[in-house]
Order: sequence, then structure tokens, then C-alpha cells
Amino acid sequence: MTASIIDGSALSALLREQVSDRVNALQTRGIKAGLAVILVGDNQASQVYVRNKVKACEQTGIHSVLEKHDATLSEADLLARVHALNHDNSIHGILVQLPLPAHIDAQKVIEAIAPEKDVDGFHVASAGALMTGLPGFWPCTPHGCMKMLEHIGYSLRGKHAVVIGRSNIVGKPMAMMLLQQNATVTVCHSATVDLKAHTLQADVIVAAVGKRNVLTADMVKPGAVVIDVGMNRDDEGKLCGDVDFAGVSQVASYITPVPGGVGPMTITMLLVNTLESAERHAISTA
Ligand code: GUN
Repeated sequence: MTASIIDGSALSALLREQVSDRVNALQTRGIKAGLAVILVGDNQASQVYVRNKVKACEQTGIHSVLEKHDATLSEADLLARVHALNHDNSIHGILVQLPLPAHIDAQKVIEAIAPEKDVDGFHVASAGALMTGLPGFWPCTPHGCMKMLEHIGYSLRGKHAVVIGRSNIVGKPMAMMLLQQNATVTVCHSATVDLKAHTLQADVIVAAVGKRNVLTADMVKPGAVVIDVGMNRDDEGKLCGDVDFAGVSQVASYITPVPGGVGPMTITMLLVNTLESAERHAISTA
């Protein structure tokens, strides 16, 4: 079997057109959707991510404000900035890029963001809303994975999904979203004994570990759907995921590539969340 590729770049382009239309519609009602991005320090990868997020806002007509701060910024000053943005009516989404310098308590900063502007979906209120099925913002990366499954018309009802990785940003919320769609979900992690025994049972596998070749062809049931959240470099410095793409694509029915898979979807879902925040604001102030 040669897997069909789920093209995250193409799906993103489609969804971003829809975002752009809704941004324009909102603007005719006098509301310009706005996102504030805060970057502290000079982490190279974070700079690239943040630049891509701001660029995507520009392309879809979302107003964006990028605040860059020195790595020496105090926690108190960062909290003060977040509080100010919470009360800024031109801003509907606040994103504090992680990781933060070690002297700043990242969780404390995330909890300072007003939940209605938490477009990253990292606040405990957002996590709780996801867990209980209440309205709230979903973390962008797992939400993007769900959109990819939706796009191929894949019904998760009664399917066995295996998530590899248990981070608060991807693994745990991913498991909740799959569960909400009636999949039977197994979460594997670094202490899992015999990962292969689990993945071989899976109809859907989401690899979100941050390590190359976590999933190889011998670990995949023929016809399974494989979503690769990893973002790593191979020996030649080329971008690659957690999945051995060449091998697994001979066994799976669908697979996401790296680059051009989940990555662009993450940013797209950030745009969707920011737009939805602005739309909710419009309803609440109408
Ligand atoms: N660092 C890596 N990914 C993310 C993300 O999705 N949001 C934020 N805020 N920081 C990140």
C-alpha cells in the first residue's frame, strides 16, 4: 500500500481563505480581529515561529502586534503586559511564545491571560473546557490534526487511536479531542512498555514526541492513518518528523508529511481561534 498524503499546506490555504472572508465580514461591522504576540528573548526557533504567525495574520487581514522583549524582562513586567492586553479592546487573542526564559514561571503567565483571549488554548480554563466538552479554545496543533482527519472524511467513532506523547500542548489535548469524537484512545509515553504492541493495534496514530523515527513501518497496521506532529532535523539538517516517512507510507492508508503537514495547520488554527474570539467579542458587544 502507498499512503495518500494529507497535504497540510493545501488544506491550510483553503481554510485561510475562509478565515479571510470572515475577517472581512467582521470588518464591515466595524471590528478588526487582532492578535498580540509576545516574544521574550532571542530563541532562534521561536523567532521563526513568531515571524510565521505574524505573516499569516497579515495574509488573512488579521491585525497583529508583535512585542519583542529582552531575555532580561522580569516576570512582573511580563505579567503587566499581559494584563494590559487583557483590557485592550483591539486585541482578541494573546499569545506568549514558549519557551520563556528560566526566571519566568510560564504557567503563571499563561494563567494571567484572560481565558476569552487564550487563543493558544493553554490556560487551565481552556484545558478544563476541552475536557468537559464546554466551549473554549482548543490548542492549535491537535485541533489542526483533527481538521486533517475531518478533511479526509475519516470517522473516528469506534476506532482505536494511539497518541504517542503526553505533553500539555499536544498529546493530552489530542487524546481528549479524539475521545470526544468517540475513538477509543491509548496514550503512550516515555515509560510505555512495548510501544509497538500498542501502535500495531491502532487505526489512527498521532506521533508527538519530538524524536526522529519513533514510528517505523513494522509498528504500523496496514491501512492505518498516521499523523506526524514531530519537527526534527535529520543528519543532513533537513526538517523531518517523528515518523519514518519513507517506510510508513508503504503501510499506512494516509500520512501527513513534514514539512507541509501539521506545521501549517497549527498556524491556521491560531488564525481561526483569533477570528472566533473576535466574532464572540462582536456578539457580546452587539
Ligand atoms: N512554542 C512552540 N509551539 C508553541 C505554540 O503553539 N504556542 C506558543 N505560545 N508557544 C509555542
